[in-house]
Amino acid sequence: MSTSGNSIIGAPIQRIEGSLKVTGAARYAVDHPMDNIAFGVPVASTVGNARIARIDTSIAQRMPGVLTIIHHGNTDQLFRPAGQLEQSSRAGEVRPPFEDDKVYYYGQYVAVVVANTFEQAQDAAAKVKVQYETQPNVVEIADAPPPQGPPRIHYARGNADPAFESAPVKIDETYVLPPETHNPMEMHATIAKWEGEKVILYESSQGVVNHQHVLSEMLGIPVDQVQVLSPFCGSGFGGKLFPWPHSLVAAMAAKRVNRPVKFVVPRALMFTAVGHRPLTQQRMRIGATQDGKLLSIHHDVFQPTSMVDTYVEAATGVTTMLYSCENLTANQTLVPMNIGTPTPMRGPGIVPGLFPLESAMDELAIKLNLDPLELRLKNYAEQDESFSPVRPFSSKHLRECYQIGAEKFGWSKRTPQVGSMKSGDEILGWGMATATWHASRGSATVRVRLNADGTARATCATQDIGTGTYTIFAQVVSEKTGIPIDKIEVVLGDSSLPDGPTSGGSTVTATILPAVSAATNGAIDRVIAAAQTMPSSPFKRAGAGGDPPKLIMTAGRIHVADQPPESGIPFQEVLAQHRLAALEMESRTAPDPTTSRQFSGHSFGAQFIEVAWDPGIARMRVSRALTVIDAGKIINHRTGRNQILGAVVMGIGMALFEETIYDKRNAKPLNNNFADYIVSTNADIPDLDCIFVEYPDLHLNEYGARGIGEIGLAGIASAVTMAVYHATGVRVRKLPVRIEDLIAGQQMTA
Ligand code: MOS
Repeated sequence: MSTSGNSIIGAPIQRIEGSLKVTGAARYAVDHPMDNIAFGVPVASTVGNARIARIDTSIAQRMPGVLTIIHHGNTDQLFRPAGQLEQSSRAGEVRPPFEDDKVYYYGQYVAVVVANTFEQAQDAAAKVKVQYETQPNVVEIADAPPPQGPPRIHYARGNADPAFESAPVKIDETYVLPPETHNPMEMHATIAKWEGEKVILYESSQGVVNHQHVLSEMLGIPVDQVQVLSPFCGSGFGGKLFPWPHSLVAAMAAKRVNRPVKFVVPRALMFTAVGHRPLTQQRMRIGATQDGKLLSIHHDVFQPTSMVDTYVEAATGVTTMLYSCENLTANQTLVPMNIGTPTPMRGPGIVPGLFPLESAMDELAIKLNLDPLELRLKNYAEQDESFSPVRPFSSKHLRECYQIGAEKFGWSKRTPQVGSMKSGDEILGWGMATATWHASRGSATVRVRLNADGTARATCATQDIGTGTYTIFAQVVSEKTGIPIDKIEVVLGDSSLPDGPTSGGSTVTATILPAVSAATNGAIDRVIAAAQTMPSSPFKRAGAGGDPPKLIMTAGRIHVADQPPESGIPFQEVLAQHRLAALEMESRTAPDPTTSRQFSGHSFGAQFIEVAWDPGIARMRVSRALTVIDAGKIINHRTGRNQILGAVVMGIGMALFEETIYDKRNAKPLNNNFADYIVSTNADIPDLDCIFVEYPDLHLNEYGARGIGEIGLAGIASAVTMAVYHATGVRVRKLPVRIEDLIAGQQMTA
């Protein structure tokens, strides 16, 4: 597509790296060819809680091709990340691999075999004998010792206890979300290669700079001796935000055998040693008036974490800001268990927190005989009441999302009685929910170079995890310079480039736009200055008052501001006259701390779901999904829509399929494979639609754009269970919705 000028911002430009991906030319972490490479295969614990009494490597060591076997008894020293102290860098798990002789969770690496081939390493790993002194596993909240001390999160405003006691209408229910496992197509993987004292890591990472810092701290070497490369990422969903043990193991092994080492985390261990979304058990109590005004909310959460690190799934945060309610108390308690360390998974905190809140709102609407959308409008938060004093939202157009969604979905045709909407053999159920996600930005440095051959190059040590980041860099450079998209090279995913943000929290778009813009403007200014001073400059002639005329760059040409681009000269010519190969500028931008304190930044949305229940064959499917999103200006309507629809697909999986099931006997995730851990597939997904209401949020950045990687998932699970109730009369409070629940419920109501 050739678009220039302002219209390129917002245009549905195809991914600039798309052809590399579809032709297989894009090199993911383990695709990098490497001479003399060796392979690391882990020996993972088969118990959840134990002391390693003995590791016998005598047979394995003598097997063909085996180079070394590393375990706690012969490990090189690794360190804990310093970042945990000031939160400047963050590891997935602070305990370095092989730190001691303890096993804290099933699937923990207890040794790694390094061999000439993958098969040799795998064979030998199977022959490493580990003797455990086991202790009982704790994998369920009920089996854990009662948590001591105050809750990890406590929030209160007003006086929720008496308000709930005296409320005329009450809801008091407990909702459970199971542990979910990130299952990106591309598994976690590392190739580690030492060049003298420097280590180069080919990774599948959502944050090359953070990864570089953590590896520097944990390996105990200076940060400039670590380079992390992740030019492509086969998705992460949060699981690849922070470095996990395999990356350190690969680096240590490569040093020891003095060869590059490749370590691919097997799919089964993707369920243990690289994070997951933890289970949350959430009690929600709501007090309301007879006409549906919220009087009080209590939100109490129990959440497992691991024995080796602390991860907080901040589920109560959304409850404190989504609706207007004077009296609110929220508590969250962590329960350490014998599981791998949890980590953010798309929409962390808010997504699991919205499920009980939006479900309880639906239960309240039914009790009051109110339309669920009307109940939400009655309690609309005009300001963010979670702050004291309350803060205005930087930009909120949720009412419009509700209204457009309701209109487009046909919400007014909904008849509230359970099972009242039929379509052939199927019973339809309709549900809706509110969606929200934080809007914020961080700092970034971007370098933009304008080349004498008419091309441009933009670089930054952020990365594109499949969201479209490469493309929006090019869009901004093209918008400002008029250089066509296909003449703009974007280089990301390399920690040696100018400092860039981690791809997390839906913040990259808002973060990098101002930096790309500033760097491009800076580079243009340098070309303009050069145009004014070159020997045969047509712009030397003084304008009015003797000043040189104001020059701008349009369509790749430098020209006088009030004259057409054709009157000027191509920027290549300016560079050629000065015998310059290029002119470039590096710019760093950061959010304005005053604005961030003045406003509450959130994106919003409304999600509408139709399910079709066929009682004859006990089939439940989602048959329609509509999402309306208020996320400020959308920079690319193709990749933007792709983000929202992809998240909806994930939400349908969360509602109907996804659940990691632990075996109480050995703490093993039983369904640690693609046959048993079910994610949405094409056959599960109906036509999806997504509408953006576009109000630029100019408090956030000059484009008014927010990130949209997570919000699409936010309300789906609760909208689905609401629709399931509407179709069947069965209220599912423990995800995922299982056919067994529906059949049992039908028999009870029959
Ligand atoms: Mo997202 S869970 O911050 O990758």
